[in-house]
This record gives sequence, C-alpha cells and structure tokens, in this order.
Amino acid sequence: MLHPVLESRLRAALTAVLPDADLSSVQVRPTGDPKLGDYQANAVMSLAKEKRMNPRQLAAEVVAKLDLTDLCEGVEVAGPGFLNFRIRSSAYEAVLQAALRGEHLFVDRATAPRTVVVDFSSPNVAKPMHVGHIRSTVLGDALSRTLRVLGHRVETDNHIGDWGTQFGMLLIGWKTLLDREALERDAIAELERLYKSVNAACDADPAARERAKAELVKLQAGDAENLSIWKEMIRLSQVQFDTIYGRLGVKFDHTLGESFYNPWLGPVVQDLANLGVARDSDGAKAVFSDGSIPPKEDPFKIQRDGEWLDAPLLVQKSDGGFNYATTDLATLEYRLKTWAPSEILYVTDGRQQGHFRQVFAAFKLWQPEAAARVRLVHVWFGSILGEDGKPFKTRSGDTVKLADLLDEAEERALAVVREKRPDLPAAEQAEIARVVGLGAIKYQDLLPNRQSDYVFSWDKMLALQGNTAPYLQYQYTRAAKLVRDGGFDPASGAAIRIEAPEERALARQLVNFGIVLAAVAEECRPNYLCNYLYDLAGHSSRFYEACPVLKSEEPLRSSRLALCHLTAAVLKQGLGCLGIGVSEKM
Ligand code: ARG
Repeated sequence: MLHPVLESRLRAALTAVLPDADLSSVQVRPTGDPKLGDYQANAVMSLAKEKRMNPRQLAAEVVAKLDLTDLCEGVEVAGPGFLNFRIRSSAYEAVLQAALRGEHLFVDRATAPRTVVVDFSSPNVAKPMHVGHIRSTVLGDALSRTLRVLGHRVETDNHIGDWGTQFGMLLIGWKTLLDREALERDAIAELERLYKSVNAACDADPAARERAKAELVKLQAGDAENLSIWKEMIRLSQVQFDTIYGRLGVKFDHTLGESFYNPWLGPVVQDLANLGVARDSDGAKAVFSDGSIPPKEDPFKIQRDGEWLDAPLLVQKSDGGFNYATTDLATLEYRLKTWAPSEILYVTDGRQQGHFRQVFAAFKLWQPEAAARVRLVHVWFGSILGEDGKPFKTRSGDTVKLADLLDEAEERALAVVREKRPDLPAAEQAEIARVVGLGAIKYQDLLPNRQSDYVFSWDKMLALQGNTAPYLQYQYTRAAKLVRDGGFDPASGAAIRIEAPEERALARQLVNFGIVLAAVAEECRPNYLCNYLYDLAGHSSRFYEACPVLKSEEPLRSSRLALCHLTAAVLKQGLGCLGIGVSEKM
C-alpha cells in the first residue's frame, strides 16, 4: 500500500535531518480534503516543537531530503508545517493492478499477528434473546471479522450467563409448575414463565424465597436431580441461541459460560485474600483501593457529599456465594493462560462500565505482570430507542424478542423485493429479502457511534437511498452486474489507467480500505467502515455518471471494468467485515 512506503521514506528523511529524533509516532494518513493532496503527515510539527525549531523551516529541510519522485507529483508544506503528498496516477495504477492480480485487496495483513479474545453476545440462559442483545452480538461479530481480515488470530467466546441465583427459582418452577407441552413448543418462553411466576411468589412470601434458595444451594452442592434439570435448561436455551446465531451468521470458537469457572472461584478469592488484595468487608470479601492513584481516577472510590468513600469490588458474599466479578476474574486468568492474548475485548452495554473498570483494576492488583502483557478493553455501547425516544419496546410494552425482530426485518424486506422485482422466482425473492433484511438491522446498529443511543426505525434502515445496508448492497449488485455484462475477466491482464478525476477519486478511496479497517480494529468502531463504504459507493456512482464503462472503446473499457470489479470486491469484503452479505441480484 502507499502510506507505509510514504511513512518509511519520511522516516528516512527525518533521520537524515534529525539523527536522534524519536520517530515512533510518525504517521501518514489520507487527507480529509483531496484538494490539499492525497496524504498528509503532521510529524514535522510535533518534532519541531520538541526540538524548539521553526516547523516550516524543518519541513523544508525534510522535503529537500525526501525522495518520492516515483510516487508523488509533489510534496507541499502547508500551514504551520503539514506535509501534503500528491500521489501520481501511476502509483495508484500500480496498487490497483496488484489488487487485480489478486495480490491483496488494499489491506496489508499483519506481519506480527496478535491474538485477540472477543467476549460478546453472552446472553443469559432461560431468557429469550431480545433487542438488547443485538448490539453486543453484531458489534462483537464485526470486530472479530475485521481483526481476522487484518490477519490477527481471534478467539470468540460467548460468556453465557448459565449460573446464578435465578436457578433457584427456575428449579422450583420446573419441579412444581412445568407445562411440558409448552416447553416443547417454546422452551425459553416456558422457562421465562416459570421464572416470572416463582419470582412473583418469592416477592409475596419469604418462605417461597427460602425454598428457592434451598434449591440453589442443592444445585451448587452437586445434587444430581438439580444438576440434570439445570443442564436441560441450558441445553434448551442453547438450541434457541444457536438458531439465532445461525440466522445472523455468527459463530463462536468457544462457549464457556459462567458455570465453567465454578471450580476456580474459591481458589481465586483465596489467592486474592492471601495476597492482601481482597479483605473482609462486613462478613463479605472485597477488593479495595490500594490508594496508589488519585481518587478521581480510582475505580474503587466514589464521591458522596464531597467526601471520597470506598467502593470496593465484592468477590464473595457473606453467605459464601460468589459474585459476577469473581467469575470475571477467574475468566480473565483462564483466558490469559489458555490463549495468551495481547488483547481482550468485552462487548457489553454502557451500564457495565463501572464493573469492568473495577475488574480490570482488581486484576492488575492481583496479577500485575500478567496484566501488563494484555490490553483489556471494555467496548461499550448505548441503548436502542423507540421512535418515542424511550427504550425500544413492543406496542404492549414488552421487550422485543430478537427472533421476532429478525422475522419482521425479512418480511418487510420481502415486501420491497416483491414490489421491485416481481420478475424473480419466489425462492430468489426470499433469499434477497433475507440478506437485505438482516443486513439492514445490522447496519443500522453499526452505523452510529457505538456509545450513542440510536432510534430504531424500519423505514430508515430499509431505505434504498442514504447510508443504509440496502443502498450499499445495491451498489455492490450494480458494480458486479457491470462486470458480468461486460464479460470482464480479472485474470485477463487488463491495464488500469487512472485519468478522469472521478477515476482518481475512486482509486484513492479503494486504496485506503486497509487504513480504515486498521482504525476500526484499533478503536473498536465499525462505524468508520460504514462511513467509508458509503463514501466508496458515492465515488463509484459519480464514476459511472462521468465515465461510460460498457460503451467505451478498448483499452479504456477494460480499465474501467477493472475498477468496477475492484469496487465490487471492496464493497463485498467491507460489508463482509460487518457481517453483512450481498446478493448478485437486487
Ligand atoms: N451475561 C452478561 C449480561 O447479560 C454479559 C456478560 C459479558 N461478559 C463478561 N465477561 N462479563 O449482562
């Protein structure tokens, strides 16, 4: 790709001028405005500041040492010392030509692949997956796919909630209220019914709560009957989860639920206590601040009435039971030992920010050396709202089940496909509707900044115009159809020529695909890729308008068909990174 070459040449020039400068932060990036040039570097300014030099003068000295005649028409010093690079068409052509030969798709695969664990989706057993699970599932999947395309090793892990106090109530419900027929029909709905009715009974009657607790204690002690009911509940739930994952095209390398870590919870707390990281707190055990950082940044402190109080992380309750955090500490240790990742991403909603801040900090107190080797990231996200600006619910005020949502997306997409393509056979219409409907839901979720709430809107997500999945999928179909209609063979050795400004703009956009993927992985923000693809689609439309493809004479025709081919390939790969499919017909 072009920017790594520009970077290394710039480093060489900087070293020639400033032999002892620290060049680790030197970066060349696409400019926001192509009028300024194609790429830009601001390294000179920060180095000048560090060395107390005049930045424009330093820039001029560096430019004098820069040898870029093969790649750039020119390098300009702009403003307070930016370097702007204007790329030669021949340099774009060479990169595109290599892509056409199949050497790359504008992505430099990692030379030193990292291992990244992605913890996402993680629904709770015996509850239906609902609209709230979309974001974790779709975001986690998109990040995993992007990291893989960049050449990293990814371990996806579904940390399902298959252990906890709810099982006491579920066991009572199963033993006293179970409707076998209902269980056959819709297992999770029946389990949810059991839970709700026992929960209500417990609220009304302390004796019922005691009975539920006793069942839980029996389960935790390994009672055979309770264990087998519990296993059955997990199995039934997993069947439904798997149906949804199958529809969404989401795969996990591991499904290690909370219960998997049971045997380690006691030892973890023991170890924390032995090391003095955890101590007694009203009969419970908790991790407290070690006072090494200012209270404002300390996850184990909160401010009340102007005073800083302890906000410890509970790792064992006074009755001996363990907490969500204890499991997360055991999980973290297991993952480091098993996969030695350099990074773990936790994809959950924003309400768990405090939890993860504390868990990460507690782990650092517990195992400082291991903690120094891994980057722990809480990839959090906001809520999905209804058109009324309140949390998204059904008309009757219930949470929206994910399965129903996916059904509705496909149905609505099918209505559109039937209207636009009445000529296609029903099976083909249904397949297009599936790809478009699911794509629309995913894309609507990935497009906003993940930390913002967004309003769920069928009309917006399914619109064929605007920044939507159906629009991008249509742009793919259009490019792919041109390639087919033109009888273009990418292996034909067609020579790519970049001449018209619209060809140049399209080439520039294609070449920067990998930079965007790297930014998505670095900041865990797939919305960068959404916007990139939308811009790419815009450039391709302007290219079709200005540059006839099929009607051009050779060799222009093949050159333009090659551009269509590469555009289609990047749209497909980019949507693929988001977990969104494409269709050859639309
Ligand atoms: N099951 C949890 C929930 O529904 C999410 C788990 C996230 N992962 C983790 N390691 N804590 O909120």
